[in-house]
Amino acid sequence: MHITVLAVSLTLMAVIAAIFISAARSAGRGEAIQSVETRRNRLIVALTVIGVVVSLVSLVPWPHAVSAAPAAVVNVTGGQWYWKLDTGTVPAGRPVAFNVRTADVTHGLAVVDENGRIVFQTQAIPGYVTRVDHKFTKPGTYRVICLEYCGVAHHGMFEQLTVVAD
Ligand code: CUA
Repeated sequence: MHITVLAVSLTLMAVIAAIFISAARSAGRGEAIQSVETRRNRLIVALTVIGVVVSLVSLVPWPHAVSAAPAAVVNVTGGQWYWKLDTGTVPAGRPVAFNVRTADVTHGLAVVDENGRIVFQTQAIPGYVTRVDHKFTKPGTYRVICLEYCGVAHHGMFEQLTVVAD
């Protein structure tokens, strides 16, 4: 994906550079101005069309489509210094909605897999319910930890979440 973005960026930069060079070369040649303006207008239209197409394609999967119908809902509350989940088991391969709250200060909720890699993370913010929809790709034992320093026992905010094959 990064390579694609880089290639597209470099190509577009080369195109824009070529246009500038072309415009600079034809400056002063009166009869060429009309044709340069026509080409410039065509280019603006073409770049606009390309921009719209790239924007639409890059929005797939549409973020809102993911949150349509969760297979399970987990209500998570963070507090000094614990995580409380109303269920400790969720299915793999289907969207799970996490409603994240805090009982006191801001906490940084993260769900990590068996290799310690963050699967997703969000904030637990006083006065708000933060919803995260996530589809676990594989069953296993995950850990819920806190990523934001929230007091002396911050490191003790630690809970387990089991993802089972659906
Ligand atoms: Cu809660 Cu750090």
